[in-house]
Amino acid sequence: MNKLVITGGAGFIGSHVVRQFVLKYPDTLIINLDSLTYAGNLENLKDIEEETNYKFIKADITDSKHILDIFEEFQPDGIIHLAAESHVDRSITNPLDFVMTNVVGTVNLLNAAKHIWKDSFEGKRFHHVSTDEVFGALGEEGFFTEETNYDPHSPYSASKASSDHFVRAYADTYGLPIIMTNCSNNYGPNHFPEKLIPLCIHNIINNKPLPIYGDGKYTRDWLFVIDHAKAIDLVFHNGNQGESYNVGGFNEWKNIDLIKELCKQMDEKLGRKTGASEKLITFVKDRPGHDLRYAIDASKINRELGWEPSVTFEEGLSKTIDWFLSNQKWLNNVTSGEYQNYYEKQYK
Ligand code: NAD
Ligand code: DAU
Repeated sequence: MNKLVITGGAGFIGSHVVRQFVLKYPDTLIINLDSLTYAGNLENLKDIEEETNYKFIKADITDSKHILDIFEEFQPDGIIHLAAESHVDRSITNPLDFVMTNVVGTVNLLNAAKHIWKDSFEGKRFHHVSTDEVFGALGEEGFFTEETNYDPHSPYSASKASSDHFVRAYADTYGLPIIMTNCSNNYGPNHFPEKLIPLCIHNIINNKPLPIYGDGKYTRDWLFVIDHAKAIDLVFHNGNQGESYNVGGFNEWKNIDLIKELCKQMDEKLGRKTGASEKLITFVKDRPGHDLRYAIDASKINRELGWEPSVTFEEGLSKTIDWFLSNQKWLNNVTSGEYQNYYEKQYK
């Protein structure tokens, strides 16, 4: 049986990637390696945890010895690396956490892979999952391509850019067989409610203010999370070694317009009067160093691997709202405890 380690598999995107691989590749053992931070939740994988080709290991990627022990014991042929500190606002408060997990943790994984694959890199692959934020901010026009220069602005994007550089350095220096994806903003089921869309869904349900940073004109390119998981699957199996692929939704929204669309759909689904949720919109202090606009040119993955988003934004958003409305226990669990302290500090 082939063996594949997926790091960060208990998180938002990782859980969709784990599910996609466990169900689609029954002859591959999928090892979900995750330290279960505040963002990791095994509830996300309840439906597949009994599958015989699935195994969970609690491990912190900053612990080099534990990672090496696991790699030596299981001898995986492939790594798909998603584990990260992923929230820009938290990186502004605690940059060092991001250096530890995103930079040191990534280097630990690269070292462990290099060590267990030292006899031959044949048939091996290290897939690093990165973000479009490494490219910095766009003005009103233009797109990020795979050739765009790196220009990160937040501690989060600086740590991801650094990890990308280490991944490429291990390919150039040691010949490690790497591949990379840089994706735009994801949304969908299991999204942790500190990020814009699930935070606003949670607040609309509870009739709480919807905090919009600055003037709300910041623009993001949104992709349904299952389409990101499918892109990772395609690139991992069919992408060209050593290359990177941009993944995006061809779907730009200014934050304020996006939240108005969300309010409209939620009013309908909750049977509220049209315009009721929009009244909750509240402009709040801007995020420091806030990037104006991200937009991905995803033509390479489309042309070379035939990937394209499978749902429109309206469909994806509707499915997402439906998931949160039917999983309010999940939402209540993740927003109790530590989340309340975070929320107080961030929005006081
Ligand atoms: P997330 O915060 O929801 O999940 C991160 C997961 O990593 C959690 O399960 C957490 O427990 C685990 N983790 C964190 N630190 C760890 C450590 N030291 N050791 C082991 N596990 C650890 O993140 P996400 O939004 O699912 O993002 C996953 C990856 O995709 C990240 O690398 C992120 O940079 C990248 N990405 C995210 C987006 C997005 O819109 N969310 C877009 C593009 C790329
Ligand atoms: O572009 C990919 C990135 O997308 C990923 O690499 C990150 O891991 C992921 O968190 C996401 O980063 P963003 O900073 O774009 O996502 P977030 O949901 O935090 O914010 C989206 C936009 O909404 C951004 O312009 C900031 C704004 N915002 C966010 C929050 C949490 C608000 O206006 N109010 C809020 O309360």
